[in-house]
Amino acid sequence: MEERWVLVFQTCKSPNLLFMSMFLLILLYLSNPPSIYAVSIYNAYDVLDLHPQDRDSLLLFKSQLLNPNQSLSSWALVGSRCTNWTGLTCSNRTGRVISLNLTHLNLSGQVHPSLCKIPFLETLILSHNNFNGSIPPCLGTFRNLRTLDLSHNMFSGVVPNTLMKLKKLRELVFNNNKDLNGIVPLWIGNFSMVLEKLDLGFNSFCGEIPESLFYLKSLKNLDLSHNYLSGNLYDFHQSLVYLNLESNQLSGTLPCFMASVDSLSVLNLANNSIVGGMPTCISSLRALTQLNLSFNWLKYEISPRFMFSERLIILDLSFNDFSGHLPNKIAETSEKSGLVFLDLSHNRFSGDIPFTITELKGLQALFLSHNLLTGEIPARIGNLTYLRVIDLSYNSLSGSIPLNIVGCFQLQALILNNNNLSGQIQPELDALDSLIILDISNNKISGEIPLTLAGCKSLEVVDFSSNNMSGALNDAITKWSNLRFLSLARNKFNGALPSWLFSFEAIQMIDLSGNRFSGFIPDGNFNISLNFNNSDIGRTTPREPLAALRNMEIKLSVIAANSNELGFYYNLSLMVGIDLSDNLLHGEIPVGLFGLHGLEYLNLSYNFLDGQIPSSLEMWSLKAFDLSHNSLSGQIPENISSLGNLTLLNLSYNCFSGIVPKKQGYWRFPGAFAGNPDLCVESSGEGCQMKRLPAVPGKTFEEEMEGPISVWEYMPGLKLHWNCSFRGRAEVLFLMLISTSVSRWTFEVTAGTSSGTPDGEKERSLIEFHN
Ligand SMILES: *[C@@H]1O[C@H](CO)[C@@H](O)[C@H](O)[C@H]1NC(C)=O
Ligand SMILES: *[C@@H]1O[C@H](CO)[C@@H](O)[C@H](O)[C@H]1NC(C)=O
Ligand SMILES: *[C@@H]1O[C@H](CO)[C@@H](O)[C@H](O)[C@H]1NC(C)=O
Ligand SMILES: *[C@@H]1O[C@H](CO)[C@@H](O)[C@H](O)[C@H]1NC(C)=O
Ligand SMILES: *[C@@H]1O[C@H](CO)[C@@H](O)[C@H](O)[C@H]1NC(C)=O
Ligand SMILES: *[C@@H]1O[C@H](CO)[C@@H](O)[C@H](O)[C@H]1NC(C)=O
Ligand SMILES: *[C@@H]1O[C@H](CO)[C@@H](O)[C@H](O)[C@H]1NC(C)=O
Ligand SMILES: *[C@@H]1O[C@H](CO)[C@@H](O)[C@H](O)[C@H]1NC(C)=O
Ligand SMILES: *[C@@H]1O[C@H](CO)[C@@H](O)[C@H](O)[C@H]1NC(C)=O
Ligand SMILES: *[C@@H]1O[C@H](CO)[C@@H](O)[C@H](O)[C@H]1NC(C)=O
Ligand SMILES: *[C@@H]1O[C@H](CO)[C@@H](O)[C@H](O)[C@H]1NC(C)=O
Ligand SMILES: *[C@@H]1O[C@H](CO)[C@@H](O)[C@H](O)[C@H]1NC(C)=O
Repeated sequence: MEERWVLVFQTCKSPNLLFMSMFLLILLYLSNPPSIYAVSIYNAYDVLDLHPQDRDSLLLFKSQLLNPNQSLSSWALVGSRCTNWTGLTCSNRTGRVISLNLTHLNLSGQVHPSLCKIPFLETLILSHNNFNGSIPPCLGTFRNLRTLDLSHNMFSGVVPNTLMKLKKLRELVFNNNKDLNGIVPLWIGNFSMVLEKLDLGFNSFCGEIPESLFYLKSLKNLDLSHNYLSGNLYDFHQSLVYLNLESNQLSGTLPCFMASVDSLSVLNLANNSIVGGMPTCISSLRALTQLNLSFNWLKYEISPRFMFSERLIILDLSFNDFSGHLPNKIAETSEKSGLVFLDLSHNRFSGDIPFTITELKGLQALFLSHNLLTGEIPARIGNLTYLRVIDLSYNSLSGSIPLNIVGCFQLQALILNNNNLSGQIQPELDALDSLIILDISNNKISGEIPLTLAGCKSLEVVDFSSNNMSGALNDAITKWSNLRFLSLARNKFNGALPSWLFSFEAIQMIDLSGNRFSGFIPDGNFNISLNFNNSDIGRTTPREPLAALRNMEIKLSVIAANSNELGFYYNLSLMVGIDLSDNLLHGEIPVGLFGLHGLEYLNLSYNFLDGQIPSSLEMWSLKAFDLSHNSLSGQIPENISSLGNLTLLNLSYNCFSGIVPKKQGYWRFPGAFAGNPDLCVESSGEGCQMKRLPAVPGKTFEEEMEGPISVWEYMPGLKLHWNCSFRGRAEVLFLMLISTSVSRWTFEVTAGTSSGTPDGEKERSLIEFHN
């Protein structure tokens, strides 16, 4: 019936012929055989049987699948009504199959050529299955095919040339097969003059984009992303709506897309090798809603007058080499300004953040980090009431955190680290009660933690490290019940450590190092943290659920062309650990601390801790363990060397005594026992001889280690200067650099190897922990 409709209208040259054609149509109906007439009274779909030839072809196709019965059980000889068969649509006139849609049916195996014996097929969708093997060349016999979708399968090999016979094809969708390879066929741009959509993304195509594609008039939607395409990018000569060439190796400069000024909605050229500047013509793309040019080699200044249309929703220019001032007006602003996501990070933009940025009312995420921005954070930033994420880190911003920021009441991440910000944390900041991440580390913030911050109950990551903050730990922190990461390191905090310090179920890292905390390490509550106590360790079950916790995602709701949600991932890949080093703590170390199965990092060095440590440690996950520069006594635990993951051990400069047996293999940890006058480390073959000290005072640990199994002995010279109640702080420095945003931790160890002089020669070694 459909074809006849078309015929009738094709002869219809003027409106007054319409009546004629309707009349013709009625005549057609009347002249049809009675059975078809009946069909128009009942529902043709239910009545008509599947054409036997198509039925047999499909049953043969099914029989060759690896799992025919799971989802195609409705395909059977009996009851071969078209509508009963999963995925089929038939012509209600002829009973011939015109559409086969087998998406998401768990089908696997190769496509049997019998599938090609359904001659009237117009739509073939095999997407989201596990079909493998090559694309059957016989698909080229579908002369009426309009849609061919083989996406999300495991097809491999090249695109067969027979497909160039599909002259009526409108959509060719082969994305996500990973292994489709070879060059993009040269005929792809001129085999069908009605091709609107071509999607070959996430495959292994190489070579250049065929020239014909730049001219194919009908093309609207082109996705060649995530392949290995190279060569220059040229301008397209048709009105594209969607263009995605992300993650290839395309070079050349940015074209103007003049043929698409009124149509292009999504333009994604990210992660290529595009060079040059940002041509002003890009701003005339009136329909643009998403622009991603990140991860290219774009540079130079963006014209100060450069402005996108108010339709723009997503703008990502990050990871380029742009310089000069930020464009004064990024997008036209109207009452409902569209820009939701703005990422200009990782460039070399300088100067102030233009206050006009606060006119982008709809903004949900603002990333300006890793630039050379100076001046203050615009006071009106609080006008952006939809903001969820602000990342201004790694710039040279000064002034204080504007109080007005509390206007961003939906804020989930405030990331201002590594700037030159001063002033105090205002008590009013408690209004940001959705805040999950608060990172103001590496600034010049002073003052205390306001008690009102108790109101920020959602906080999970708090980094105040490397500032000038002071005061005691107040109870506000206890209200952050989801806390995972707390660093107050390198400030001037003081007072006793509160008893609740370890009472956070989700806590992964507590870093209070480099402050003036005094008193005892609180005992108890060690069993609350799931991470510290990871009971999976030592068993065979993997620790997936906890590992998954290490990435945090903040979701933005974006109504955009291809999605309505945008995830912002904050990479929290760090160790499970406690760092209380470089404080004024004294007393004994609570035994509970040594029983934390999940702890990977424990640093209590540079304090005044005394007492003994247990004879056997149960910290199975331990990777780094530093108790150096305290006044600990008693025996070295017997089982340290059986902690298989331990890479860094430092028990130096304490008052440990007894014998460290050779068989424990402590040679792995050079320097670990230095500065313990009463400790004897058993040397090679000769047992422990307290009197036989190394002949040459001042030898470095490295020099002492000859050959892989040689035993080193403690430093004799130190005995003269070392006193168990004295802190030899100047001699051994243990610096730890934490980064919450990179996927590894870097420990920089500067081990004192001197002969007793405080400024003795230093040995440096770099130990990196990869997660
Ligand atoms: C045949 O199916 C088409 C849709 O494919 C429908 O529009 C038409 O009404 C049907 N004709 C009859 C006679 O049922
Ligand atoms: C698949 O179903 C047919 C009948 O529909 C049956 O004869 C056959 O044994 C089934 N095969 C499997 C593997 O279940
Ligand atoms: C086919 O579908 C009809 C109704 O749509 C149903 O009555 C009939 O039982 C089905 N036949 C089979 C074999 O599933
Ligand atoms: C194919 O089938 C799926 C699920 O049955 C459906 O969601 C999709 O819209 C269909 N596609 C076409 C083009 O009919
Ligand atoms: C596909 O397989 C998965 C698991 O193997 C199952 O959960 C799902 O229901 C299956 N889908 C269909 C359409 O059979
Ligand atoms: C297709 O997959 C099946 C099972 O997964 C395998 O036996 C067969 O060798 C594969 N064929 C090709 C051509 O990769
Ligand atoms: C398509 O282009 C190729 C090379 O550009 C040419 O040889 C061929 O004749 C063209 N085919 C059509 C149908 O225009
Ligand atoms: C860029 O593309 C390469 C492959 O071409 C891929 O390995 C890399 O992960 C991509 N980078 C980003 C940031 O997507
Ligand atoms: C832009 O492209 C890069 C590189 O492929 C990708 O990592 C990033 O998520 C994209 N930006 C947006 C907003 O989708
Ligand atoms: C923006 O903020 C300023 C200063 O805080 C205020 O005076 C102004 O009214 C705000 N504008 C809007 C539209 O909210
Ligand atoms: C940091 O800010 C102070 C004022 O608080 C200023 O004197 C100093 O020059 C700034 N430093 C840098 C590197 O911008
Ligand atoms: C080292 O740590 C891993 C998990 O990070 C754990 O599976 C393994 O058992 C540990 N090795 C030893 C010897 O304890």
